[in-house]
Amino acid sequence: MDLYAEEIVAHYEHPHNKGRIDSPSASFHDYNPICGDDVTIYLDIKGGKIADAKFEGVGCAISIGAASMLTDFLKGKSLHEVKEMGPKTIIEMLGIDPGPARLKCATLSLRAAQKALEDKR
Ligand code: FES
Repeated sequence: MDLYAEEIVAHYEHPHNKGRIDSPSASFHDYNPICGDDVTIYLDIKGGKIADAKFEGVGCAISIGAASMLTDFLKGKSLHEVKEMGPKTIIEMLGIDPGPARLKCATLSLRAAQKALEDKR
């Protein structure tokens, strides 16, 4: 297995930041109706930055691996930075291009994080 794929599987098997934040500043539940995967992102915001990020959910190795990596990655980022993130950020974070069919898996948690910030306004 290639090194990056191994890292995704390691995050899937031992996800970082799994769980919920009590009284989060923002949260959003997102769902992929095609496969049934779902993720809820919880964000704690302090001084315009992500102070903490956690997630709950079930899904494939890419969706859960990406949620684990993303919640690590988001900490310390400004709200503007999070809003500007796109698929390219996720592909760089994963270290592989999952291809068009799996891009939805890889970006499920990012979309949830961005919708959580939109809802907060
Ligand atoms: Fe459902 Fe990956 S198969 S998000």
